[in-house]
Amino acid sequence: MAIDTKSFAADNRDLSMFPGEYGYPFFGKTIEFVKDTLAVCADHYERFGPVSRLDMVKNQRVLMCLGPEFNEAALFDPHGNFSAAGGYMGSLGGLYPDGMLLRDGKKHKKTRRASQPAFKTDALRTYVDMLNPIQSRRIDELKPDEEFIFYDNIQQTLMDVAAKVFIGLDETSAEAKMLHKIFENINKGLITPVPYDLPFSTFRKALKSRESLRNFLVTKIPERRGTELEDMFSRYCNAKDEDENYLEDVDIDGHIAFLLFAAFDTTTSALTNILYYLGKNPEWQEKVRDEINNVSSDIPSYDDMAEMKLTEYVFQETLRFYPSVMILNRRTTRDVEVGGYEIPANTVVMISPPFTHRMEEWWTNPLEFDPMRFSPDRAEHKRHGFSYIPFGGGAHKCIGMHFAMMNAKLYLFRLLKQYKVNLPNNYDPRFQHVHLPRPEDGLPITLTKI
Ligand code: HEM
Repeated sequence: MAIDTKSFAADNRDLSMFPGEYGYPFFGKTIEFVKDTLAVCADHYERFGPVSRLDMVKNQRVLMCLGPEFNEAALFDPHGNFSAAGGYMGSLGGLYPDGMLLRDGKKHKKTRRASQPAFKTDALRTYVDMLNPIQSRRIDELKPDEEFIFYDNIQQTLMDVAAKVFIGLDETSAEAKMLHKIFENINKGLITPVPYDLPFSTFRKALKSRESLRNFLVTKIPERRGTELEDMFSRYCNAKDEDENYLEDVDIDGHIAFLLFAAFDTTTSALTNILYYLGKNPEWQEKVRDEINNVSSDIPSYDDMAEMKLTEYVFQETLRFYPSVMILNRRTTRDVEVGGYEIPANTVVMISPPFTHRMEEWWTNPLEFDPMRFSPDRAEHKRHGFSYIPFGGGAHKCIGMHFAMMNAKLYLFRLLKQYKVNLPNNYDPRFQHVHLPRPEDGLPITLTKI
């Protein structure tokens, strides 16, 4: 099934009224973007100002709009001038046509409302109970004094979390392993440079895996209905709309598949980068450890997590440097004026959280790692409502934000209570920016028992 692209007019390709540079034929500026997204943004900002044109792969023509004013216009968007579905249909539409982010207006509102119970505080409390044993088991398996690649390891842990909390499977079961494989194949389809349904292609394999995931979920819906199971999938199976009807199978599959996608890589990237910064800044590792040691229980609760403020500032500061989603897309639904620029209808617009997060106009010494900038006294992130957007903003603001933070805090609680995290001597990795930001080598670390 593919997104209904017929309901969209073709993208506007006439951006000749804007300064900019298209890049190479077919690839546009994608190669530079993959190498260093931030450098492309900085270069365009310096040479062309906040609004400039460029091409991405397959010569998709886009308008890069940099700074909080444009973030606010595209994300807050009270008049529906920007479409998220239009912005993402070219990239996510092929594999996640029914994802929440691929819906606009009333349809999106309905989806969001149906999803809300799975993200309320009561639900989050039950997820903590599910997360605790998984993280505990995975962290107990770690071997001290032996270097390992943290990114690979945290991926496994978070896959267990996905199987248990999102789908309600025993994370060690054969079904969970199969799901892991299916999910890996779908993800490869999202980043393949040749996203076409051709024989033997990565993309075709991804489409088949998406079909397998759909069959797997849809077959399980009847057995989850009427139960009081507390995983996200079972909650969706038992959710009802305003007319007291269960959600349709296609919607349940669409939401759960998209949640898996939206949650997994983003959190993997965030936790990898948090450990990088805690390894680079041992004084902050100590501060976080002290905070953790002040929590009285050994099995932390949801409320214990809420108390861990310094850990939260570290999480926020890491996402300031490297927000898991480096670029957000929208498409204008009509001619729009923003900041004195007239943007024509059907123009694909690209905004950059990390560029905004490093703008000197909005942040004090933006290149310094300084988690206290998020403390209530300084609150630099509140200088503008849209200068800090690691979770987006407006109607599509990340629904899993609190879950992500809690999952990360819980993991750090267990890890740092038992281990000191060490990076290789003089470690200064290259950061990849695409598909998600992280040290290119996956972050080699060594743990020392405390
Ligand atoms: C550190 C982790 C995460 C980051 C940085 C992150 C970031 C984001 C961002 C930037 C958006 C908005 C995209 C846009 O407007 O174009 C978003 C949307 C979304 N996220 Fe997250 N996310 C994270 C974790 C999660 C988790 C754990 C879940 C689910 C449990 C999740 C589910 C979603 C969903 C469903 C949407 C679409 C919401 C909508 O369209 O209404 N995310 N996320």
